[in-house]
Amino acid sequence: MNSFPRLAVLGSGKGSNFVALQEAIAAGRLEARIVLVVSDLPDATILARARTMNLPVATLPPSPFRTKLSPEGELALVELLRKNEVEWVVLAGYMRVVKEPLLSAFPNRVINIHPSLLPAFKGLRAWEQAIAAGVKETGCTVHYVNQDIDAGEIIAQRRVPVLPDDTPETLHARIQIAEHELFPEALAKAFRAAS
Ligand code: GAR
Repeated sequence: MNSFPRLAVLGSGKGSNFVALQEAIAAGRLEARIVLVVSDLPDATILARARTMNLPVATLPPSPFRTKLSPEGELALVELLRKNEVEWVVLAGYMRVVKEPLLSAFPNRVINIHPSLLPAFKGLRAWEQAIAAGVKETGCTVHYVNQDIDAGEIIAQRRVPVLPDDTPETLHARIQIAEHELFPEALAKAFRAAS
C-alpha cells in the first residue's frame, strides 16, 4: 500500500469525472487512492462504474430534503468517511449541498468541480445558464468547498468556447472534456499546497 492521499469521491450522476480521476491515478498522472465512492442515489451510474473497477461503494440514507442531507445523514457520512480513513472529499457531480459537520471534519479538504467559470453561473445546470446569458465563453472550475454555494477558493479553471449552434447537450459535453483534464491537475495542485 502506498502513502498517497486517500480520497472519497461523492457523486449523484453518471460518474464521468470519477472515471477520469481513476484513469489519471492508474496512468500515474495523479498520486492518490480512491478508497470509497459514495452516492446519495442507490441507482446512480457512478456506483455501477465504481463496482466494475472493484472500488468500495456506499449509499447514503434517504434524505427528507431534495437538496441536502438531513443533519443525521451528514453525521453518518462523516462517520463513514472517518471509518475509511478518508483524507480528502472530492465532489464529482454530487448534487446536494455539503454542510456541517462535514466541512469542519475536513477543513480545506472538500473539493468540488463546477461546470462554469465561477463566480459566473453558480448552482444547477450551469451550461444552460451560459447559453441563456449568450456568453461566448464558459468553462469549468475546481474549488475548495465552504459554507456558501459554489463560492470557495478557486484552485484551477479551464475555458471552453460557446459555439453559435450549441445546444445544452453539446455545450455540456465540451465542458466535460475540459473537466476530465482539469480535475486531476487541480487535485494534484491542492495536494501539493497541503503538503
Ligand atoms: C459535471 O459536469 C459537474 O461539473 C456537474 O455535474 C456533472 C457531473 O458529471 N456538477 C454540478 O453541476 C455541481 N453543481 P459526471 O457525473 O459525469 O461526473
